Amino acid sequence: MKTKQTQRLWGAGFVQKPSDAVIGFTAGRDVVGSPAADAALMPYDMWVNQAHCVMLVKQGILPVSDAAKILEGLKHLDQLVKEGSFVLDPSKEDVHTNIESWLTEKLGIDVAGKLHTARSRNDQVTTDMRLFIKHQILAFVEQMLSLSTTLSMIAQAHKDTVLPGFTHHQHAMVTTMGHVLAGFAAMMVRDSERLLQWLNLHNTSLLGSVASYGTSFPIDAQMTASLLGFEKPSVNSMDAITNRWEPEVDYVFALSICMNHLSSLAQTLILWATPEFGMVTFADQFTTGSSLMPQKKNPDPLEVVKGKASVLHGQVVSLLGLGKANFIGYNRDTQWTKYILMDACSEVMFAPSVLAGMIQTMAVHKDQMHQWSMRGMVGATSLLEQYTQATYLPFRVSKMVIEKAVAYSVQPDMVNYGALMKAQKEEGIDASITRKQVRDWQDPKEILHATHSGGGPGGAEVEQSLRVLQKDAKSMHTRVNKYKQVLKKAKTTLEREIQTIIQKGAV
Ligand code: ARG
Repeated sequence: MKTKQTQRLWGAGFVQKPSDAVIGFTAGRDVVGSPAADAALMPYDMWVNQAHCVMLVKQGILPVSDAAKILEGLKHLDQLVKEGSFVLDPSKEDVHTNIESWLTEKLGIDVAGKLHTARSRNDQVTTDMRLFIKHQILAFVEQMLSLSTTLSMIAQAHKDTVLPGFTHHQHAMVTTMGHVLAGFAAMMVRDSERLLQWLNLHNTSLLGSVASYGTSFPIDAQMTASLLGFEKPSVNSMDAITNRWEPEVDYVFALSICMNHLSSLAQTLILWATPEFGMVTFADQFTTGSSLMPQKKNPDPLEVVKGKASVLHGQVVSLLGLGKANFIGYNRDTQWTKYILMDACSEVMFAPSVLAGMIQTMAVHKDQMHQWSMRGMVGATSLLEQYTQATYLPFRVSKMVIEKAVAYSVQPDMVNYGALMKAQKEEGIDASITRKQVRDWQDPKEILHATHSGGGPGGAEVEQSLRVLQKDAKSMHTRVNKYKQVLKKAKTTLEREIQTIIQKGAV
C-alpha cells in the first residue's frame, strides 16, 4: 500500500492553501511561546543609553574620553544584537543590567561604571516602554488605516448592492453592502484617531525622573527628550514613575475598542458566510479545514479575532489593577505592566491585516443578497413612511394601519395591497393608494433612492461618507508620517552627536 506523509490533517481539496501567516494567526500560542519581554526592549534601551550618555557629556558630567568608549562599546553591542549573538542572561535580571554588565566586562568599571550617573532603571524602563508603545501605535494605526482603505474600496464597488439590514438578528430595513462596509471603515478611522490621541497625552520622556525624585546632577532632560524624539520631558518625576501603568492601559484600552470593532466585523462576516445566509464565500487560503469532517472550510481567523478581543478586555482590567492604590514612587508590581502590554501588542498584531486579506478575497453573492432583501417584510418601514407622507395621517395612526396590514398579508415577505386596504377600512381611513405604490414603496431600489437622511445606505450617501473617511484617513497618515520623521530626525541627530564624541575621544 502506498503511504503518503501527511503534512496537515486537512486541506487536500483546497485550491489554495492557507499561508503560514494565517496558520500562525489561528494556532495562537498552541505551539509557540512568547520571547522574553526585555528582548523586545533591547533596541529602545540601547537608544536610551546612547541619548543619556550624550547628554552627560554635553552637560559636563561625563568626560568625553569615557563617553567615547561607552558609545563605541554600545555600537559594538548593537552589532552583536543585530547578528543575534547577544543573548540576555537571566542571571543578570533585566535588559538594563545585562547591557551595563556587558559594558563593564568590556570597558572596566572605571569607564562603564559612569554611565548610570543621574539615572535609575526606573526612569530607564518607563522611557523604553514609551518608545516601545509609540512604535507599536504608529505601526498599528497604519494597519487599521489600511483595513479602512480596503473596506472603503469594497464599499465603493458595492455601493448599490442591496442586502437586508438587521436588528436583533431579524430582518429590519434595506441597506447596501456599501453602507455596512463604509460603517466598518468609519470605525477603523475613529479607532486610529483614538490610538493617535495616546501621543497627545504620553509623548513624553521620563529620563530625569530617575528613581522617582530627580537628581542633583545638572542633567538636561529636555535634551534627552529630543534625542529620543519625544515632545517634552515629564513635568513631575514622582507622577511619571508612579503611573507606569497609565500609558499602558490607555493603549490597551484603545486596542480593546479596535478589537471590539474588528470582532463585530468578524461576527457579521461569519453569519453572512453561513449556508443559511449564503451572502459571501471566503477564499480557501483564509479558511481552515477539520481533522475529521472532509467538507469543512471554517472561518477560523474570524473566530480568532473574537477570541483575541476577549483577551484584550482582561488585559485592560489587569493593567488597571496594577495601577490601583500605588504608593508614591516606583513599585515593583508595575514591572508586570510590561508583560501585559507586550502580550496585548502581540495578540492584536496581525488582526487588521488578516481581516483585510479575507475581505479582499471573499466572493460576494449579490443575487443572494438581493433575494434576502425581498424577504421578511424588510420594506415595511419604508411603506409606513411613504404611506404616512402620502396620507398626511399622524405617524401613530398610519403605524397602526401598516401593522395590521402586515398581519393580514398572506405572503410573509411583503405587505400586499388587499391587506392594506382591509387595514385602512378597519381604521376608518379612505386614502386612495394604488397597488403600484404599495409595491414600489417596498422595492429595495426605490427605498434606497428615497433615503436621504445623511450617513444612510443610498449610493450617493455612501459615496459622500467615503469621501469624508478618506479625508480623515489621509490626515492621519500625515500625522503618522510626521511622528515617524521626528523619530528619524532624533536618531540622525543622536548619531551625529555620537560620532562627534567618538572623534573627540580619539584625539
Ligand atoms: N526590570 C525592572 C522593571 O521592569 C526595572 C526596574 C527595577 N527597579 C527597581 N527599583 N528594582 O521594572
